[in-house]
Amino acid sequence: MISSQSLAVLSFIAPLVAAQACTLQFDGRVPANLGAAGFDSANDVFSPTNVFGVGLSFSQLIQLPAITGSLFDADTVPVEVTISDDSIFNGQTGFRRAELLPASNSGTDPSTTGVKTLHFSVMKDAQRALNLSHEYQLVFLESNDFSTNQFVLKTGTILGQATANPDTLQLFGNVNDGQLLFSTPFTPGVFNNFAVTLDFNALTTQVFFSTGVAPLKAVTQAVANDVSGQGQFHFGVLKKPTDGGADITKSGFQEAGIDEGIVFGGIFQEDSATGCVSLSA
Ligand SMILES: *[C@@H]1O[C@H](CO)[C@@H](O)[C@H](O)[C@H]1NC(C)=O
Repeated sequence: MISSQSLAVLSFIAPLVAAQACTLQFDGRVPANLGAAGFDSANDVFSPTNVFGVGLSFSQLIQLPAITGSLFDADTVPVEVTISDDSIFNGQTGFRRAELLPASNSGTDPSTTGVKTLHFSVMKDAQRALNLSHEYQLVFLESNDFSTNQFVLKTGTILGQATANPDTLQLFGNVNDGQLLFSTPFTPGVFNNFAVTLDFNALTTQVFFSTGVAPLKAVTQAVANDVSGQGQFHFGVLKKPTDGGADITKSGFQEAGIDEGIVFGGIFQEDSATGCVSLSA
């Protein structure tokens, strides 16, 4: 029996190498020639059908800002996901949301088996600032039965909590347990880079972080976190209401006239079964 402590140590001495050396599970880095319209039809990067408001299409909400890519974008470009008053998905009038889902991530595919490391970078858009009176989910894994999120990156004022500084990136484990894995100021003007190693066998999660072009560093050990249940990875903006009620998907307050967005870069997932985790490109 190997304790979780010694597993964590093993994961530190395992190979930590350059990006292309680890086997890719999926690649959500956006080719420069995809264009916003390319998100509307079948492509190798993201699903064209989910998640956005009824009557919308991705090309209406995707922005491709002319800024330098993230640490892990070489020939690929940043992508911004925006929300408006029309971002009402599936009758969820309590939310405003739009999220990108990796094209190959069906909910039961190998991205949620074995040991995988998910990479993503997030940046603020000063022209489309979030309203930090609200809670936002920016990245999460939603289980295949839609019953939980096995991890979720949040910012803003967490609904039902007294958030000391809402201008913070907070990475939580499974929402059923509410464990805060890591938090950091949401530094403006640069990419905030994350890697999250998800061990779907040992049911652990390890977080790596850096800003700008600095190589990632481990900021947690591999800690116990229930990542079972497979599912889909979401990258975007899910804005919750400022008050809830029994079903926050359908009730609570959302102001009108919003134009908000978050820029993503370097979304990809690699196989870490052998301990391979890319810390820099
Ligand atoms: C932020 O959201 C709250 C709650 O929806 C709203 O009352 C307030 O006017 C918003 N602030 C700004 C600056 O938009």
